[in-house]
Amino acid sequence: MSEIKGKFITVEGGEGAGKSTNLDLIKQLLEAAGQQVLFTREPGGTPLGEEIRNLLLGHKHDGMAAETELLLMFGARAEHLSQKIVPALNAGTWVLCDRFTDATYAYQGGGRGIDPKRIQILEQWVQHDLRPDLTLVLDLPIEMGLERAGKRSAPDRFESEAHHFFQNVRERYLDIAKNDPKRVKVIDASLPLTQVQSQIKTVVGDFLSTCV
Ligand code: TMP
Repeated sequence: MSEIKGKFITVEGGEGAGKSTNLDLIKQLLEAAGQQVLFTREPGGTPLGEEIRNLLLGHKHDGMAAETELLLMFGARAEHLSQKIVPALNAGTWVLCDRFTDATYAYQGGGRGIDPKRIQILEQWVQHDLRPDLTLVLDLPIEMGLERAGKRSAPDRFESEAHHFFQNVRERYLDIAKNDPKRVKVIDASLPLTQVQSQIKTVVGDFLSTCV
């Protein structure tokens, strides 16, 4: 992976944290700085990955084992990396991804209770040394996020989880940020959109200034 030329930026957050709107802004900021940006998402991002996403988010397999869920996430990720992310980065394109492996630590680790050491083994196996260069975590209280997500559409298999599941997911994201403050930046997504976006502009601006 030593020939990587593009930057890899990921955006994370609990349910209803406003990822879509803010991903659009980040893409615009990167493009305005002259970068070619590939926008993609996880689980998904490839034809096979999107099929795996449907299995993971749909209710057909309610009650799937946590290990199955974990392996499907990494199955989709392996395909995504080999078909899309790594070729783009090698070509010098920047990749902006809606969720990545921090979501696995938060949801399958924090939410489902899988030992992070097991996740780490899969991370190393599937990604080798590839990690995001910058991660933004859109953080907000659980009640606020679930209310926003609930207004949009029928809850998917994750959105149907109980309150404590999301509490654990949130705490795990905040732990990840605390342990890796250089890469992971927490955005207070409970504030009005203009204030959320000004935090994002600062974080992206600071990152861009380190890339020149
Ligand atoms: P979203 O990206 O549209 O919010 O939906 C994806 C869902 O999948 C979300 O509830 C988080 C979950 N997820 C995991 O549980 N583990 C993962 O590794 C990823 C990428 C997503």
